[in-house]
Amino acid sequence: MKFFVDTADVAAIKELNDLGMVDGVTTNPSIILKSGRDILEVTREICSIVSGPVSAEVVSMNADAMIAEGRKLAEIASNITVKVPLTWDGLKACKVLSGEGKMVNVTLCFSVNQALIAAKAGATFISPFVGRLDDINLDGMELIADIRQVYDNYGFDTQILAASIRTVNHVTQSALVGADVITAPPAVIKALANHPLTDAGLAQFEKDWAKTGQKIL
Ligand code: E4P
Repeated sequence: MKFFVDTADVAAIKELNDLGMVDGVTTNPSIILKSGRDILEVTREICSIVSGPVSAEVVSMNADAMIAEGRKLAEIASNITVKVPLTWDGLKACKVLSGEGKMVNVTLCFSVNQALIAAKAGATFISPFVGRLDDINLDGMELIADIRQVYDNYGFDTQILAASIRTVNHVTQSALVGADVITAPPAVIKALANHPLTDAGLAQFEKDWAKTGQKIL
């Protein structure tokens, strides 16, 4: 399973990338706002660090304007993935941009039917939002599993990018149901290393080691 990091925080991306944890990056208008940086400038910097797909989102509502924005974003670097919303206009933009050979991530997916038509429109990635479904008391992970089944039933090669991943349990469940990619904030990716038994075991080893009076270095 690939790990994308859901942030425009360049320092956090560098830290995770140095550890081999970053297969790609996703951003959206809210993430750009949080970064306080210019979208073109910060996206260019991210693309200079990460060689995998870097999603940059269009902001217009009609297809022609989305296509123009997508083309401009794609000029930043060869690993740009143009992110378009799952609307009828977004699907038109997806069809045109993917036809030009650009990677396209169709975002804000909340149903199997939406995932189905995104695949037919040539999406490279479909982004179902797990956490936002859980927020309204629906089962985000069930959606990932259902899309997996439908894509496998018909051999669609659109990659399932489990998005709005908020917890380490979301990561485990996404892996178990066969998501191709998860995108998560840096804190969630770092928290994957945590286990209380690791902490307890280490504390005991530290105590016992001190009692030996030995040193390795
Ligand atoms: C995905 O591409 C989105 O940027 C992101 O995962 C949304 O997550 P949120 O629901 O926690 O804002």
